[in-house]
Amino acid sequence: MPHIIEKKKNSRTFLHSTEHIPQHVAFIMDGNRRYARRNGKETSWGHRRGMSAMENILHWTYLAKIKHITIYAFSTENFKRDPTEVENIFDLLEEMLYKISSDEKLLKKKIKIRMIGEAENLPEKTLKAFRDLEEKTAGNDQMYLNVALAYGGRSDITQAFRSIAVTAATATAATAAASIVAATGAAAADNTVVSNNYKNEDWISDEEISKYLFPFSDEIVPGVDFLIRTGDEHRTSNFLPWQANGNNAVVCYYQKYWPEFTFKDLFYLLRRYQKAVEDKQKDEIKRLKKIEAFLEQ
Ligand code: FPP
Repeated sequence: MPHIIEKKKNSRTFLHSTEHIPQHVAFIMDGNRRYARRNGKETSWGHRRGMSAMENILHWTYLAKIKHITIYAFSTENFKRDPTEVENIFDLLEEMLYKISSDEKLLKKKIKIRMIGEAENLPEKTLKAFRDLEEKTAGNDQMYLNVALAYGGRSDITQAFRSIAVTAATATAATAAASIVAATGAAAADNTVVSNNYKNEDWISDEEISKYLFPFSDEIVPGVDFLIRTGDEHRTSNFLPWQANGNNAVVCYYQKYWPEFTFKDLFYLLRRYQKAVEDKQKDEIKRLKKIEAFLEQ
């Protein structure tokens, strides 16, 4: 029974069923500044609270057995903000990365952490802190966390197509070299091997394109099933267009500001996701029954 909800004595709400847990959840963490303003505090206070909420999310999603999460920490658009705010966000990020690096409780969870985005646009020390953490967690496979930094969905697709063009050009050159080798009997160059994989256009598939998108992995990163945006903004802000929109993800715009997002909110939204999947399945059954009835007429 996937939709029965159980209230525990301590009033936390848990999922009763383990059915339809999304494999990949993406978060647009919005509302840090409005949260600070509402509390009469500085922007930096809101971002610090946002960072704590982010750290908590890792533990909670692990508990919910969600295998992949992607969080939008900093978009390419965010570089247009006041330089002091941008500096403050990167300082916080570094602080968080070093904290995670030495958090035994978290390290035990064997989470593989990767950055997605335009690394060349990050401050050097932030990038170094990230690369160190990536290296430290590279062998992990219990859960995957992608942190989108200096990220934009369209530019991700653009860079992927540039790399694909380079691969195709290299393969074409290798094919030409192989023809010369065949015609002249000259010694074969190493790159002639490359050409065999790219002899026809079939090598460009959805799966192959996904490998050229961040985080550039030969391991399959499943499409996003559930996209959650806090802060009551009803937009997807150029976040994971291929991975989420292309995967027909369930999208949820949530009223609360990111720093006030709790364990209960996550589980409440997961139940809504379960309901959405179930409703879709019921609709599909109805549709098939209608077709069946029509064909039997
Ligand atoms: C969204 O709220 C926050 C950001 C775009 C800034 C970065 C995110 C965090 C600090 C969370 C933790 C992650 C890191 C990188 C440490 P907003 O500033 O857009 O708030 P608003 O919608 O109220 O203006």
